Amino acid sequence: MTDIALAVIGGTGLYKLADLQDVETHQPVTHYGALSGPVRVGTLGGHRVAFLPRHGEGHSLPPHKINYRANLAALQALGATRVLALNTVGGITERFGPRVLACPDQLIDYTWGRISTICEEPGTEVLHVDFGEPYTRSLRQEVIDAAASAGVVLVADGCYGATQGPRLETRAEIVRMRRDGCDLVGMTGMPEAGLAREMGLDYACLAIVANWAAGAGPDPDEVITLQDVLDNVAAASSGLPRLLSALLGARATR
Ligand code: HPA
Repeated sequence: MTDIALAVIGGTGLYKLADLQDVETHQPVTHYGALSGPVRVGTLGGHRVAFLPRHGEGHSLPPHKINYRANLAALQALGATRVLALNTVGGITERFGPRVLACPDQLIDYTWGRISTICEEPGTEVLHVDFGEPYTRSLRQEVIDAAASAGVVLVADGCYGATQGPRLETRAEIVRMRRDGCDLVGMTGMPEAGLAREMGLDYACLAIVANWAAGAGPDPDEVITLQDVLDNVAAASSGLPRLLSALLGARATR
């Protein structure tokens, strides 16, 4: 068990954490089966940080096949209590265009057929955790403050709509999601956030907008390509190392 200041879960286009030093890899066996791949544990600015790419190395797992429970349980077994989830998303409303970073404060779950609780096995205690505020307020605030102190522009709210994928959405689905109040759309935000709450982990989402969601941008006929997604994630992530350093540094001085 190591004392881990922060666990980071990487999304599409985010398979490595720049500047992670003295890396060891761990792949704990969990009660829930196999995780997405090895967890890289190293130091960043003097703090122990764990990094796990959600889709596996080489993006081999689609969103509905990710073992979210095993991933979180593995991070917890390694000593993590705080998880920053990096999620690549599409932008639905005006403030969330490509390359925007956002720290959503709400979510709506449209996924189905995923194991979404740790209360699955017979004999486990049934939990009805409070989820009115799905992300941990204190960790969100730390992320928002870290972005401000690092000079990284971040939208400090927003509603994340989690869809099933792996296909992207129809324009009508995005119209419906906008009407529902979603600002962002992604495929991996749930059940991860709900499981983190059940497991007692602090959890916040840093969403990276890779594209306008279907029909939401200035060109309603735009076709979303993986290359655009990856290019925009790479560009939008340039401030991430600074943001993470500020987040870890702020923790040290609290
Ligand atoms: N929809 C769902 N998930 C996504 C998108 C999108 O447009 N872009 C990146 N992840």
